[in-house]
Amino acid sequence: MQILPTENELRAWRKAAGSRRVVLVPTMGALHEGHVHLVRVARELAGSDGLVSVSIFVNPLQFGPKEDFSRYPRELEADAAKCESAGCDVIFAPAVDEVYHADRSIIILEKSLSTVLCGASRPGHFDGVCTVVAKLFNYFQPDDAVFGKKDYQQLAIIRRMVRDLNFPIVLHGIDTVREADGLAMSSRNRYLSPDERAQAPALRRALLALREAFLGGERSSATLKAIALSILERDSPIARLDYLEVCDAETLQPVESLAERPSVVAVAAFFGKARLIDNIEL
Ligand code: PAF
Repeated sequence: MQILPTENELRAWRKAAGSRRVVLVPTMGALHEGHVHLVRVARELAGSDGLVSVSIFVNPLQFGPKEDFSRYPRELEADAAKCESAGCDVIFAPAVDEVYHADRSIIILEKSLSTVLCGASRPGHFDGVCTVVAKLFNYFQPDDAVFGKKDYQQLAIIRRMVRDLNFPIVLHGIDTVREADGLAMSSRNRYLSPDERAQAPALRRALLALREAFLGGERSSATLKAIALSILERDSPIARLDYLEVCDAETLQPVESLAERPSVVAVAAFFGKARLIDNIEL
């Protein structure tokens, strides 16, 4: 496995790859078992002749001024070992000034899907995500790219970007990997204190209770949300809710009642300094 820090080296690697299938897993590092699973999925997609690539880049453009960019964990050596064990062929791990010119003046703006949920709480976040992912797609020119479904909104926005900007890339959304108690794996789980960690799985339990009610025939979003909130309030007084929303699975717009179209329920809550997200598809 190679670790490449510069665009020139990556471009040379891509040229040498020629017509072999290239599968990309974009990450910000601090890899956990969820990421490792994505790399394994990429390995299967690439097959024995294809190539698995991982980007590790903490993207400043997607962090707000009061967010955790400077303290976001950076641990390239440990990440590289995990990638290699999962079958990765190349890691691109550039410095910030390798990716962004000081006088850069073009970014990608998403103007619909990013107005709700995390986009409403984190202005500019998804423009930063779209901009860096478009750059990664340009560097790697992958045939496929693999993303986790924990960031459901991110995946929906990247799907839209691939469609609207004609990237010839097949996207794969992969189910969230969870701890034994249901907590979605996240690089930010390490910020949790023992009490916060103990209460954080309430997010998952709240979503499961909501789904249970949906499967039992309940269709009112307000009632479904009240069911989830009651679990969260009972089991996790520490949590500070950012949002809990029942949305159309494609447009992400809130829905009042669940009709025929697929829906997703997304939640974000602060546990101390850590902002955790999760979702469930209905
Ligand atoms: O999901 C992430 O880790 C990041 O948002 C991504 C897609 C790597 C872009 O920086």
